[in-house]
Amino acid sequence: MNVLVSVISPAPAWILPRHFVDALRREFPQHTFLDAWDRDALRRVLPEADVAFTPFIERDVFPLATRLRWVQSPAVGVGSLMFPELIASPVVITSARGIRARSIAEHVMGVTIALARRLPIAMRAQIAHRWVQEDLEGAASGVRSLDSLRMTIVGLGSIGMEIVKLAAPFGIRISAIRRRPPSPTGFGAAGAPAGVETVWPPERLPDLLAQSDVLVLAVPHTPETKQIISRAEIDRMPRGALLINIARGKLIDDGAVVEALQDGRLGGAALDVFTKEPLDPASPYWDLPNVIITPHTSGAMQDYWTPLVALFAENLRRFEKGQPLLNIVDKVAGY
Ligand code: GLV
Repeated sequence: MNVLVSVISPAPAWILPRHFVDALRREFPQHTFLDAWDRDALRRVLPEADVAFTPFIERDVFPLATRLRWVQSPAVGVGSLMFPELIASPVVITSARGIRARSIAEHVMGVTIALARRLPIAMRAQIAHRWVQEDLEGAASGVRSLDSLRMTIVGLGSIGMEIVKLAAPFGIRISAIRRRPPSPTGFGAAGAPAGVETVWPPERLPDLLAQSDVLVLAVPHTPETKQIISRAEIDRMPRGALLINIARGKLIDDGAVVEALQDGRLGGAALDVFTKEPLDPASPYWDLPNVIITPHTSGAMQDYWTPLVALFAENLRRFEKGQPLLNIVDKVAGY
């Protein structure tokens, strides 16, 4: 089989170190590994591949990929593979679901605590050598205790469930939105996993917003989730609520979020993902005192590549034997 490995990205941090391809060649001597380290090479080699380990395929070259049967993405979000011809084709897509879930959940806890304790204010004051004790004490400070918070997690997949595991022991009261019923008993309290009070379908988001002191977006970007948080949704939330987005920038309406952060309807936000990345140096987000910006690193790990390549190798063994692959993407749902 011809196995194309092209885990490339405009972001250097997301390019697979080359020695992993050598290791795959040693582990699977029965296959021919084709590697491609830029877009042009990927376009050139794709028509020869039976299997591709890559985050994206350009739509115009897909018709030439007549041998292709399976694509393993190195990412969780597979939006760049979701074009009509690939969706309609028999090509199977698998994702990296689960590998970064624990790191992302730790990040969510980190920023929840930081925002609830108003640490961005303290850190900005530290840079300016200012002692802001009076800003960080008392009712007007906005400091919140975690066991007074109600959190809504939009998207109860592998990341959402990991957030529940970490957040529930702090006494945070958790509700969630999920597209598919969480259990055979359906939605609501009866079907909710341990640590979650209720799980509701997307239509119930407006009701849950009214009781969301912290709103965490952990849902894939699909046509249904585009700008799910805009002015009307923010207006339903309690004044001073916190917004955390570790999913995709396009889930929120940036203009509405900036305005709400400026006038206090949102008390703070932790944004890891943006409509356009890298975030424009002129974006108003940078200078808002109640915003924590991270550069799409909520899932950062000391070593992402070892478990990712192990997942690919396991799936390649399964593919050879005709066994079901891990992390198959539902191409109709888009994740
Ligand atoms: C990162 O954002 C990913 O989708 O893996």
